[in-house]
Amino acid sequence: MYANGKFVPENQPVISVFDHGFLYGDGVFEGIRAYKGRVFKLREHVDRLFDSAKAIDLDIGMSKEDMEEAILETLRQNNLKDAYIRPIVSRGNGDLGLDPLKCGKSNVFIVAKTMDSLYDVMELKAITVGIRRNAPDMLSPNIKSLNYLNNIMAKIEANAKGGQEAIFLDSNGYVAEGSGDNIFIIKNGIVYTPPTINNLKGITRATAIELLEKNKIPVRVENIGLFDVYTADEIFVTGTAAEAAAVVWVDGRTIGTGKTGPVTALMLKEFERITTTTGTEIYTKKAPTRAAAKPAAKTAAAKPAAAKPAAKPAAKAAAKPASKPAARTAASKTAAAKPAAKPAARTVAKTAVAKPAAKPAAKTAATKAPAKKPAAKPAAKKPATKK
Ligand SMILES: Cc1ncc(COP(=O)(O)O)c(C=O)c1O
Repeated sequence: MYANGKFVPENQPVISVFDHGFLYGDGVFEGIRAYKGRVFKLREHVDRLFDSAKAIDLDIGMSKEDMEEAILETLRQNNLKDAYIRPIVSRGNGDLGLDPLKCGKSNVFIVAKTMDSLYDVMELKAITVGIRRNAPDMLSPNIKSLNYLNNIMAKIEANAKGGQEAIFLDSNGYVAEGSGDNIFIIKNGIVYTPPTINNLKGITRATAIELLEKNKIPVRVENIGLFDVYTADEIFVTGTAAEAAAVVWVDGRTIGTGKTGPVTALMLKEFERITTTTGTEIYTKKAPTRAAAKPAAKTAAAKPAAAKPAAKPAAKAAAKPASKPAARTAASKTAAAKPAAKPAARTVAKTAVAKPAAKPAAKTAATKAPAKKPAAKPAAKKPATKK
């Protein structure tokens, strides 16, 4: 893993319990995926990471160019082509009070692992949960912060009620999003998704809108109520970890036919196409990061695909198949305890320590439901109403 400019074994303690990311959830993160040797929407994710940091007045302490290169180098160090990547920026070490002014430099970590889609089934049951999505005037859901308790509470409730995903309402009763994904409903050939005031500005959400519109399927960004959810012809959710999945049951109501509908199927197909054919190449000398466009700077960016470590190859870097595999390992887990001495610089270390990352504490998913694979359906009709 990347830790403040160095590459270290993923089970090596790298943060102190006095880091406010650990003490208070004071920090930000991203979830990014790589497919077939390319990082999907790298720039967008790095931009969002920096926006989240700016919103909480957190200095990441490195440039976007260096962050992009550090992400790519983390993948190279682990010989990964298909992976889930997690950059984490925490406030840094402080005292037991809340004050960020008393914290030192922020800590930056990047872990990358293989990870299948978040869900074990591709046709989900969702539960509308009682807990409301954080209001924008309380803690904006646009901030991808290290405090995900709001989302975790929703997940706990959905788990308890037999759903694979939660549907959050906002404090006004409008549909906001899932616990870790954005939501779309389809009615009479028109796709609706809520404005992002009450949900994360999902990068997969933006991609889905783009793909749908390219296929002449009208998309309307407007408030949605539960009535619209229950009476939808189709519903799907999108997210980097979740990728895209149909929701076929909500609060006891079967949605549409109870199967992946034609618009969702088209979207899934298009999504798979775009994720496997676009993105920033990991193992090329000319990865199109924004640094490549920059004048010869002193960033580590223009570096050639670093000396490949004999490090352990990614276990099952399987190119994502059209249909979903059943099994999946959980997101990386790294124990932490040690107050890592402050690093000096935070560019990508050239002489990175090749790390044969020790075995991850694998873990299987908690809730499981009857696995059903959608026989991906061809697209269908789409009225021309455009917003
Ligand atoms: C709360 C929440 N909403 C939506 C999303 C989907 O965002 P993206 O598509 O950028 O991964 C995520 C995942 O990051 C999330 O955690």
